[in-house]
Amino acid sequence: MWKGRFAQETSQLVQSYGESVSFDWRLYAHDIRGSIAHSKGLLKAGILTAEEQSAIESGLLEIRAEIDAGRFEFKQALEDVHMNIESELTRRIGPAGAKLHTARSRNDQVATDVRLYTRDAVVEIVDLIADLQRSLIEASERAGQAVVPGYTHLQRGQPVLFAHHLLAYVEMLERDAQRLLDANDRLNVMPLGSGALAGSTIILDREYVAELLEFDSVTQNSMDAVSDRDFAAEVMFAIALCGIHLSRLSEDIILWCSAEFGFVTLSDAHTTGSSLMPQKKNPDVAELTRGKSGRLVGNLMALLTLLKGLPMTYNRDMQEDKEPLFDSLDTIQAALAVFAEMISGMEVNETRTRAATSDPMLLATDLADYLVNHGVPFRQAHEVIGKLVAYSIAEKTAFADIPLAQYQEFSPAFEADLFDCLNLETALAARKGIGAPSPKNVSAQLDFWKQALSDE
Ligand code: ARG
Repeated sequence: MWKGRFAQETSQLVQSYGESVSFDWRLYAHDIRGSIAHSKGLLKAGILTAEEQSAIESGLLEIRAEIDAGRFEFKQALEDVHMNIESELTRRIGPAGAKLHTARSRNDQVATDVRLYTRDAVVEIVDLIADLQRSLIEASERAGQAVVPGYTHLQRGQPVLFAHHLLAYVEMLERDAQRLLDANDRLNVMPLGSGALAGSTIILDREYVAELLEFDSVTQNSMDAVSDRDFAAEVMFAIALCGIHLSRLSEDIILWCSAEFGFVTLSDAHTTGSSLMPQKKNPDVAELTRGKSGRLVGNLMALLTLLKGLPMTYNRDMQEDKEPLFDSLDTIQAALAVFAEMISGMEVNETRTRAATSDPMLLATDLADYLVNHGVPFRQAHEVIGKLVAYSIAEKTAFADIPLAQYQEFSPAFEADLFDCLNLETALAARKGIGAPSPKNVSAQLDFWKQALSDE
């Protein structure tokens, strides 16, 4: 493609070192879409005749069909997907093909292709996030009124509906989806027409081409346009954070599946056995996802590190953006899909959750709140209940079994109705502030999410 200036062939080592077609071939459909739009821009500018444009368009569509069908041979010697397609087009249709690259460089071409590709992937990821949210909502409904201890420091804290715990992940996933959609605003801007770095003396109607490609707008600085990969970094950050959320959910699930917790059972279809220990049923999907979240963070770091020292404008280093980007897009899609399935097969073991929530200490905070409601300042109430906890442990007597008279020695504010707040149902129902886990709130949240997720 550049042989005019060169007297020697490219070395074999350089060819195999520098090729990107082995991984950027997957941009082909977007590359072809971009090229067809560009050819229409060239037609409008009078560079191509209607016959030439139509030869280009049908040639490109033919090539796309062959790639779709796995009948196209990409050549490493042609370096990347762009040159493979263009050279095959020219081989097929002759001189018209050789006009396609007018007023275009691979620099604005690749930036356009990657944006188009990422834009489509973002739509898919957002859909997959919604699927997983729906699956979590269904699991929450199956869990009904099951109560689990809520933990801080992995120490039992206060009781919550299991559904409330699962809904926490629905919130996280919603932010992930919103972040991706927000990144899409900056992603959906067309760099095509920026040329290698300084546009072209051949003037195309960029806004017309952008419309064909469904971009919201066109970039306003040709130098920025060919060297900007912010959109990839933003999407990869949103993906990495989504991966971190899945990793935290993984960790919860791994704990819940252990004999020590035993809160949930995963289906046989979403667990694996051991080749040595016949009794094992392992939560591999969750473990793999926890592991793969590391790749997502790594991919983001790889891209940021790659960009940080680059002078304006395009530098070949930027070819290294694709593998981490593609890997992040693939990995999060796979993780979200398998998680939605796994959560659909997850059941709560109420015997175990009930046993765990029968721990009376879970209601210590409620006793402190009781005192506050009877006029005791919270710090003082906290201390009184702390002493009661120590007493209960030392005397091996549960809160419910300590007589009222004894309570009153700790604080005269205690009255007979204190025992009401030692009931799990009452305690949960009392948590009725916005965002708190009263069964009424949780069921309203479930309704809210079902509605929100069915609109999509
Ligand atoms: N394969 C290249 C990439 O991914 C395409 C752009 C090449 N441009 C160039 N001037 N060498 O970045």
